[in-house]
Amino acid sequence: MDWRVKFIDFPEQWRRQRGELLPIIEDTIARGDLMLREQLVDFETHLAAFNGSMHAVGVSNCTDGLRLLAHALDVGPEDEVVTVAHTFIATISPFVLRGATPVFVDIGADHLMDTDQLLSAVTRRTKIIIPVHLNGRTVDMDAVLKAANSVGATVIEDAAQALGATYDGKTAGTFGAASTYSFYPAKMLGALGDAGAVLTDDPQIAKDMHRLRDHGRVTKSDVDGWGFNCRLDNLQAAILDWRLTQLPVWIEHRRSLARLYDEMLRDIDGLDLPVGPDSDSRRRDVFQNYPVMTNDRDALFEHLRNDGIEILISWPLPVHKQPGLKLDHWNLPNTERLSKRVLSLPMNAELDVTQVEYVSKSVRRFFGV
Ligand SMILES: Cc1ncc(COP(=O)(O)O)c(C=O)c1O
Repeated sequence: MDWRVKFIDFPEQWRRQRGELLPIIEDTIARGDLMLREQLVDFETHLAAFNGSMHAVGVSNCTDGLRLLAHALDVGPEDEVVTVAHTFIATISPFVLRGATPVFVDIGADHLMDTDQLLSAVTRRTKIIIPVHLNGRTVDMDAVLKAANSVGATVIEDAAQALGATYDGKTAGTFGAASTYSFYPAKMLGALGDAGAVLTDDPQIAKDMHRLRDHGRVTKSDVDGWGFNCRLDNLQAAILDWRLTQLPVWIEHRRSLARLYDEMLRDIDGLDLPVGPDSDSRRRDVFQNYPVMTNDRDALFEHLRNDGIEILISWPLPVHKQPGLKLDHWNLPNTERLSKRVLSLPMNAELDVTQVEYVSKSVRRFFGV
């Protein structure tokens, strides 16, 4: 389909970046720097500094980062892992695959974990709590840490969608024992394929991640325990390292587009907007997504589509409603209601003001205003 406004415009992204990226790609390949070379170490160093973390370990994707953490922390069948059902399945699957029981907390009005419910959800079996900083907004980390401390649980932050977001001036992903990031192409910082990272201040976790991502190896020939093959490709790291230098500008751009959506849509009755970029003094949201909610979601989806606007729905079925997972006994009213009402308007670093105005006017027409 020929979209007037794409959800993410990868060809346009490449058009803008090819002048910078082609020499980096050429240089990396020409030097034969393909696996675990200096471009990866450089990226890890810069990523850790960007986030204010002690260590960054590049891995094949965010899901594998969670898998390596579940393994390193020895999560098993006796354990409960507490998180939300309004998230991508990968938040929880690595833990369930190790035999742990998922425990879900409902979400609040801002689409994130309702931390008021967290204290009653944790038990002595709670081994891990996973706050998910969805859409580029940080979960209330004071409450998460309090609940974790009350039962001695470890906090792993799923920061796949939140690189650069802050809460009380501290970066998302620096509150728990470790955090995981996705550099899937559609993310704030995207690779040209799959990529991810684990960030931590804990030297032991960092050491475990290095070992586990590379077959348990600690040197080229010495193996210290069983491991996986979850390395971040060197070429992707080189690309990500350059893109990381652009990220602050891209974040500001996303925030300014969110401001524009907010100005153009906030008077519409029957449409709920995300918290505006200047409305929460404790948080600086980075707007990985711009999700809006309405009772007429499916009709609005069709209307925007007919106007040539590409829309994403994340997610029409919450994790506990996926029939194959047998988790239907959970009752999460806010999560279930949101999944019927939510859709994400286009939001990305290549989007311009004219496109946001076009999308906003189309939304306004739908509501007859
Ligand atoms: C919240 C969340 N967690 C985890 C992941 C998994 O990331 P990856 O695709 O890099 O494994 C994603 C990716 O969409 C995500 O949005």
